[in-house]
Amino acid sequence: MSTHELDGDQQLEILLRGEIAITMRMPYSSNATYLVSIALDGKTIQAIYKPMSGERPLWDFEPGLHRREVAAYRLSEAMGLGFVPTTVLRDGPSGEGSVQLLIESDPDEHYFTIFEQRQDLHEQFRAMCMFDILANNTDRKSGHVLVDKNSRVWGIDHGVCFAADFKLRTVIWEFGGEEISQQLLEKIEPITQTVPLEVATLLSEQEVVAITERAKWLFKGAQFPVDPSGRHYPWPLV
Ligand SMILES: Nc1ncnc2c1ncn2[C@@H]1O[C@H](COP(=O)(O)OP(=O)(O)O)[C@@H](O)[C@H]1O
Ligand SMILES: [Mg+2]
Repeated sequence: MSTHELDGDQQLEILLRGEIAITMRMPYSSNATYLVSIALDGKTIQAIYKPMSGERPLWDFEPGLHRREVAAYRLSEAMGLGFVPTTVLRDGPSGEGSVQLLIESDPDEHYFTIFEQRQDLHEQFRAMCMFDILANNTDRKSGHVLVDKNSRVWGIDHGVCFAADFKLRTVIWEFGGEEISQQLLEKIEPITQTVPLEVATLLSEQEVVAITERAKWLFKGAQFPVDPSGRHYPWPLV
């Protein structure tokens, strides 16, 4: 039985309790990012394992980027966005890390290749854009946007989100100046009051306060921001 034949609860159970076997290190990954298969009770799924021990140290983030991967998943779930593949915190062959469900998508397709042709995906891109501002994502590269065969948009690689200082870096600027829909504002509003505990517990106090501040700013302005400086792009872009 493969990943797509299992329901969400079964996938979660296997992600949390299954036995992890490393298949290979992902090409182009800056940290040690592994494709793994995870087996439990005769069922196997594929996932991405990022052990903390494989992180390249960064000057602007404390070690433990895997916790931010999990925080992003939990925030996306709490807000009812559901675009981050199921991600759990657990032990693995190289120690504690994040384990995220693998999404099957065409590797030649990413944000830049699909934006023009796929108007039907724009609502999903808007939701992701809004989330990235809230999460202060510093690495929304085009390749961190995947589309599966059911036209569902997924966002990956959230290890460098949630810094307290504003340092958004994203390729999604097409909505700049547009009003944020009522539907999305309703998802932001609760975060102006409180950050869900399951997210807050993974971050520093200062970082949690900063999420609420960004939520207030976004909710009050009710507009997608613009970047006149042109500096809020990640590098490389894809
Ligand atoms: N959940 C996922 N589903 C499908 N592919 C993924 C997933 N997570 C990572 N990948 C693939 O692995 C590559 C490296 O993962 P990424 O999260 O970007 O790690 P890094 O922190 O090393 O940049 C991605 O560009 C993507 O091709
Ligand atoms: Mg990456």
